[in-house]
Amino acid sequence: MMLPNDPLSQLLGLYTAQFGEPAYVVKAPGRINFLGEHTDYNLGYVMPAAIDKAIYIAIGGRADNRIELISADFTDTYSGRIDELTHSVKSWPNYLLGVIQQLQQKQLFPSGFNAVILSDLPVGAGLSSSAALECAGLLALDQLFNFQLRTLTMVTMAQAAENNFIGLQCGIMDPFASMFGKDNELIMLNCSNLDYTYLPFHFPDIEMVLLDTGVKHSLAGTEYNLRREECQAGLEKIQQKFPQIQFLSGATIEQVNLSIPADTITNRRCTYIVQENSRLLAAAENLKNQDIISFGQKMYATHIGLRDLYAVSCPEADFLVKEAQVSNQVIGARMMGGGFGGCTLNLISSAEVAPFIATITQQYQHHFNRNLVSYRVKLSAGASVIIP
Ligand code: GLA
Repeated sequence: MMLPNDPLSQLLGLYTAQFGEPAYVVKAPGRINFLGEHTDYNLGYVMPAAIDKAIYIAIGGRADNRIELISADFTDTYSGRIDELTHSVKSWPNYLLGVIQQLQQKQLFPSGFNAVILSDLPVGAGLSSSAALECAGLLALDQLFNFQLRTLTMVTMAQAAENNFIGLQCGIMDPFASMFGKDNELIMLNCSNLDYTYLPFHFPDIEMVLLDTGVKHSLAGTEYNLRREECQAGLEKIQQKFPQIQFLSGATIEQVNLSIPADTITNRRCTYIVQENSRLLAAAENLKNQDIISFGQKMYATHIGLRDLYAVSCPEADFLVKEAQVSNQVIGARMMGGGFGGCTLNLISSAEVAPFIATITQQYQHHFNRNLVSYRVKLSAGASVIIP
């Protein structure tokens, strides 16, 4: 039996009170990423997975051309016209307006609709709530207007909405994970050609724990786009000497060092990307061999690279990862997502989870005078229609 305060019941309650019966309810999950950070837009490999925290949308048609939205999480509303799309001064509606613009650019014209959005996915915590909202929005509109979009088309449209309407030059990883996730599996995605395989993650005694630094990041307002430019500048330098290199993650360390002076920012950024891509390939082998210890060591190494070479970490995440490592209770830990805040991902044996969380919460409070929120997550299926 459903508890009255589970997300679905809450969502249905809100929708029904405002608009009557919804035609569809969909959900799209957030994601974690084990390895391959900032490699997606350098057309390398990523290793994300969808999690059991999601954004839910209830949707129904209207006879007119109005868009009426309610965000349960922000206790806020938005009203607009579908034939006069403009950016909202509020941030959250723009993720849906962005996907509507994508549809219109494909000559797919939704008419008016009502939607209620509710989430148990923390916002701004590096769990890709924006891609989840875009994917949920696309899936809901696809159902309501019977556009019959392919899943991969929705993935690229979600990315394009983020790039063009929100202004974040993100890669494809987040919407891909939100759409293609599977229970207990990681996705290994080659971003240069979108080939992907699933890697089983069957370690019944190991849990994924997220520690939320509480430092809210807004990627569009950070140096994310700058990192992309730095990588592009590095690639152009490499291509002057090695024209056969088509994308940064396809270069070798030797090629980086022969093309870009050591001890420069560009060299550091490129070194990280090239190392991270080969680290991920080695980690995939570790996983196939059930060698979770070596896999975890690679997560720690990724954190060092993100901190020292790519410069996207923050003191709070550095603290959490360092304490995880010295505790000897955590198999692997690192900052996750775009960076500049958000969560760290920790792989921990089930028996160690509660004692580790208790200690680190105290340490975090003591060091930063801040409450540490933690989430235990499971690897879950991607976006789906739950009603009807
Ligand atoms: C954000 C972006 C992704 C990816 C990660 C870093 O989550 O949306 O495309 O670049 O940062 O790996």
